[in-house]
Formats: sequence, structure tokens, C-alpha cells
Amino acid sequence: RRVAVLISGRGSNMQALIEKASGYEVVLVASNKPQAAGIDCARAAGIPTWTWDSKGVDRLLFDRTLSAALKDHGVGTIALAGFMRILTPWFIAEWEGRIVNIHPSLLPKYKGLDTHARAIEAGDTMSGCSVHVVTEELDAGAILGQVEVPIEAGDTPTSLEQRILAAEHELYSRILSEFVRR
Ligand code: GRF
Repeated sequence: RRVAVLISGRGSNMQALIEKASGYEVVLVASNKPQAAGIDCARAAGIPTWTWDSKGVDRLLFDRTLSAALKDHGVGTIALAGFMRILTPWFIAEWEGRIVNIHPSLLPKYKGLDTHARAIEAGDTMSGCSVHVVTEELDAGAILGQVEVPIEAGDTPTSLEQRILAAEHELYSRILSEFVRR
């Protein structure tokens, strides 16, 4: 029930996870980008932070160091929230079944990047977001929960992102609360 949130950027999902925490506690926010806006928000919220600029750093060394920091903080569950770095198989095995992620599409559709542009281009009328367990294969672990969000006429990737982001903020804390109780 001690959760670490891993971010690389804005951190709006992180903020929502902190504000809506129920049944779990965010005990650490970690980032591979020391300048991430979300790190300032975490500090402002009084949450301990861990950062290391991962640029040029050996992947296994980074992941081993991060893992040690998580253990130092007594972390039990890891929530990825816009963490834009692929974790090593070593890290995923070390934390097997205890890492979750939020992805801005209705998985298994649109794994990877640019999900909103791809959904609009495909002419979809529905998109949404998914929370899933992290496994070695990108965006492919067991789906824990999804919210559907309609795509409206005239939607741009930006307008659709805004609407889906609001849904993400509701979905993630709800699913994480369930996940830590499992
Ligand atoms: C979100 O769209 C999330 O689904 C994706 O990355 C984005 C992170 O946004 N994995 P934020 O940093 O939480 O605002």
C-alpha cells in the first residue's frame, strides 16, 4: 500500500493519485528527468522525491539504483504516470506484478505513442484510457480498468487528450485503490 509514482513530465496523473489517495499512500515520486514539472508539484505536496537524469546512463545501472531507492522507501507498488523510459527486464522481474501503468487509449488498441492522433485518423468514434499491469512487452499486461471517452466531430489530438486526461485522473486512483487491496 506504499506507492511510488514514476514520472518524466507534467505529472497531472501523479497529482491526481496524490490528491485522491485512498487505501494507499504515495511515499515517493521518482523521475528520470530532474526538471520534470511534476517533481516541483510533488515537492510542493511534501512528498519525498528521487531524481536521476537518465540521459546516457546505463539502463541496468539506472534501474538497479532506482530499485534500491524504492526499497529504501518501503515501496510495495509502483505506478507509472507518464514515465517515458522503458524499464529493463531485470527491473520488471524484480517488481513482477507490482507495477501498473496508465495508457491513453482503449488497449489493446494503440499501444505506444501518439494514441489520440491515431484514433482520430482511424475514424474511431470512441477512445479512452486503460490501467494495466506492466510486463516486459510494452502496454500489453493485464488490463485492470478502462474508461471510454467519445471522440467528437472536430476533435483534434489536443482536445481529445484533454477530455481523456480528465478520465485518466478519475480512473487511475480508483484502480490503484483496488489494486493495492487485492
Ligand atoms: C498521460 O496521457 C498518460 O496516459 C500517459 O502519459 C501522459 C502523462 O501525463 N502515459 P501526466 O504527466 O500524468 O500529466
